Amino acid sequence: MSYIRSFWNSPYTFWFILALPGLPIIGSLLRAGEELEPLLHPSGEFSARFLVISLMITPLMFATNGQRWVRWLMARRRYIGVAAGGYAALHVAIYLLDMGALAPIIEDMFKIGIWTGWLASLIFIPLVMTSNDWSVAKLGNNWKKIQKFSYAAAVLTLAHWVLVNFDFIPALVHFIPLTLLQVYRYVHLSKKRKDRERTAPA
Ligand code: HEM
Repeated sequence: MSYIRSFWNSPYTFWFILALPGLPIIGSLLRAGEELEPLLHPSGEFSARFLVISLMITPLMFATNGQRWVRWLMARRRYIGVAAGGYAALHVAIYLLDMGALAPIIEDMFKIGIWTGWLASLIFIPLVMTSNDWSVAKLGNNWKKIQKFSYAAAVLTLAHWVLVNFDFIPALVHFIPLTLLQVYRYVHLSKKRKDRERTAPA
């Protein structure tokens, strides 16, 4: 039983699960002659999906009173964020290979649906680079400040998704639960702060 538990709790098992959706994408990428454009869809969607999941975990802690499965996810939140960055890098690589030349890439960059994607990708760089134990220890309080940029990446990703897809539904299906949980977290924390102020000795 303890073997099963340690296998399930191993970071390698979790990394493997996170990598699974990428395997068919990389498989298609490596097969010569396959069209690249269809691969933009799964790579972009999994990046956005993992970003949304990583941002849902903290408010879920409040909403569920820190249930065990949420704590399990909380301990792995950084891995999910790094996976979001990894899929974003794959998505951008597929886009660049599909475009194939610098001129159309630069021309595309001025479209709002595309520069929102570029900005989100740039924000991912410091987020991923500081998602390791050394950075957490070294940066102290600044680490949290840097990680807050993930909300900006999420807003840009939502805009990018809606603007390139011309269909609000898939993007909203992902972002509405996140928004509701964040509103819940805000209300919960404001109420707690007010209660503390009321009961604090004058
Ligand atoms: C250099 C930056 C980026 C560029 C140039 C770019 C480009 C594109 C393009 C051209 C599409 C349209 C695919 C189609 O024809 O269906 C697309 C779709 C998408 N991208 Fe990006 N992207 C970038 C960054 C990102 C990032 C960072 C994310 C997520 C965090 C992301 C998430 C998505 C999603 C969710 C879709 C919609 C997939 C679908 O439903 O079809 N993209 N991207």
